[in-house]
Amino acid sequence: MRLRNVKNAKNILNSSKYYVDNPSDFKGFWKDKFANKSKIMLEIGMGKGDFIIGMAEKYPDINFIGIEKYESVLVRGVQKLDTKNLDNVLVINADAKNLSDIFDREIDTIFLNFSDPWPKKRHYKRRLTYRDFLSVYDEISSDDAKIVMKTDNDMLFESSLIELNNYGYVFDEIHLDLWSADIENIKTEYEIKFGNKGYTIKYLKAHKNHSRQKR
Ligand SMILES: C[S@@+](CC[C@H](N)C(=O)[O-])C[C@H]1O[C@@H](n2cnc3c(N)ncnc32)[C@H](O)[C@@H]1O
Repeated sequence: MRLRNVKNAKNILNSSKYYVDNPSDFKGFWKDKFANKSKIMLEIGMGKGDFIIGMAEKYPDINFIGIEKYESVLVRGVQKLDTKNLDNVLVINADAKNLSDIFDREIDTIFLNFSDPWPKKRHYKRRLTYRDFLSVYDEISSDDAKIVMKTDNDMLFESSLIELNNYGYVFDEIHLDLWSADIENIKTEYEIKFGNKGYTIKYLKAHKNHSRQKR
């Protein structure tokens, strides 16, 4: 998802209380940025922000940070956030591959919602559940870190199950039809778009098993 021609995107971001322009300055001290000192959950590829905003509203005692690679997309989320009065959510314009410059083992849960599937074989290393990204997540996550993922894409889901399993993750929940499952779910923009077209939404929740050797 890439929106072009958002005028004054940088100005809009910089004037928002939710946007952190210099995130690496807070490496190791993110809890100090929030009113409560509770755990921090991260959404990578937050898009226009419906999920992270919904989560922050529903769970005021948990802190949330949204990461988005494209400024032009992030600005849409910030415009929505600016209509709210929340003290437990912040957003950052960054690429997932650089997250270890920004966080130091302070993230409790990573959400990967409708990540780009990169279907071509030559692009599989770009998937956000590829082992190189899992290694970055190790560097930013606490010992009992969790990954929660949703997608409509079967291929991405299958490759993620394999990568996570081979890397030493253990699955707490797997649902092949999330909308039919009886679990709490804040829907994302892509989820609504593709779910309403009839695609089934796949879901997994996994945690790192430290007794298993990572490859
Ligand atoms: C398909 S969209 C899904 C957006 C939203 N999570 C949803 O479910 O509606 C994927 C989003 O991830 C962002 N993204 C892709 N690769 C990324 C990366 N390496 N780091 C940060 N964001 C990324 C894209 O810019 C895009 O906004």
